[in-house]
Amino acid sequence: MTDTTAAAGPAVDPDALKMFSFQLFTKLEGAVTAGMIHLGDQLGLYTQLKDAGAALTTAELADRAGLAERWVREWAYNQAAAKMVSVATEGGVERFTLTPEAAAVLATPEHPAYGMGMFHRLPQTMRALEEMPESFRSGVGHDYDSHGPQGAVGIERSFEPWNRANLLPNVLPALDGVVARLESGAKVADIGCGAGGAVLLMAGAFPASHFAGYDISKYALGRAAQKLEEAGVTNAAFHDPRDEPIPSNNSLDLITTFDCIHDMTHPQEMMHAIRRAIREDGTWLLVDIKAQDSFELNAKKNPMAALMYGISVLSCMSSALSEPDGAGLGTLGLSEGKAREMAAAAGFSRFRKLDIDHSVNAFYEVRP
Ligand SMILES: C[S@@+](CC[C@H](N)C(=O)[O-])C[C@H]1O[C@@H](n2cnc3c(N)ncnc32)[C@H](O)[C@@H]1O
Repeated sequence: MTDTTAAAGPAVDPDALKMFSFQLFTKLEGAVTAGMIHLGDQLGLYTQLKDAGAALTTAELADRAGLAERWVREWAYNQAAAKMVSVATEGGVERFTLTPEAAAVLATPEHPAYGMGMFHRLPQTMRALEEMPESFRSGVGHDYDSHGPQGAVGIERSFEPWNRANLLPNVLPALDGVVARLESGAKVADIGCGAGGAVLLMAGAFPASHFAGYDISKYALGRAAQKLEEAGVTNAAFHDPRDEPIPSNNSLDLITTFDCIHDMTHPQEMMHAIRRAIREDGTWLLVDIKAQDSFELNAKKNPMAALMYGISVLSCMSSALSEPDGAGLGTLGLSEGKAREMAAAAGFSRFRKLDIDHSVNAFYEVRP
């Protein structure tokens, strides 16, 4: 008889084995349920559940969404088992609904806690897995456009809800003298502007100022141009810095960078460019992921550390290594200490962390 225990290596504790397997398959459950959340968003199922104002049977939900009941039922069972959707059974009939909190996060784009952006781009993010083995071998990753046009929409949907609720009332007023300057007329650049949400918000609020968004993603810039036209805003424009470089004559009053320095192939060079662009009395609002100085601290302090490191491989670090000499900071690569050090090396002498509460981001006022 074959000794399978010996063949498997060191002695295995059966309870620890069960626990490890359980942990492993909770990851797969998370991945598959994330796919179901993507479908719930894309097919309007969450919106229908929210708008119904009463618990729905799967037949009613399918009817409202214009979908086939059998498929909606299996989806609803996944969602109820995963506690995304609530279910109650009365007289053998199951009815599904969203709690107010679930409705806010799953079906209310205006709510600051709305969370569908990362799920919007889930297929594009996971499709990157096909390219990853080659990136692991070559060391070279892929920029944001590798996620296609829907990748840019996903980023837009990820960041805009919080910005819409907080940028004008909470973030800009936390910067020394910036609101007064924007009111009287300032020159502003948002670098790594994505689909332009922050630029359009600020341009609408401060008509005397001019706002330029810069990004290297053609899909994000396309989306920004479309939104600019829809908004009818005349004091904003969007540019690809490779064709229309960021000014280098110390002329800008305010520069903003939202969640993008850690994605850049050359973040130190970008900080030097920001220093050349900004007025001596100007302000750089640096918003980047809240990160610690070591893996040990990230793992200890950040309950989402595994998610962040995974997203880094599939998206942020991949972008930051999309050129062979990329710095590759990645999602948790720009801690406050690292940002301070790099800003000082670029010629900034003042660096202040702002007291702004955000689940994943840290906010810094950086000045020459
Ligand atoms: C995570 S997204 C953030 C977008 C936007 N700031 C927002 O908050 O929605 C990062 C963006 O940085 C852009 N990016 C990366 N490297 C860049 C560079 N060197 N110059 C300008 N944009 C860059 C990417 O194309 C992408 O749109």
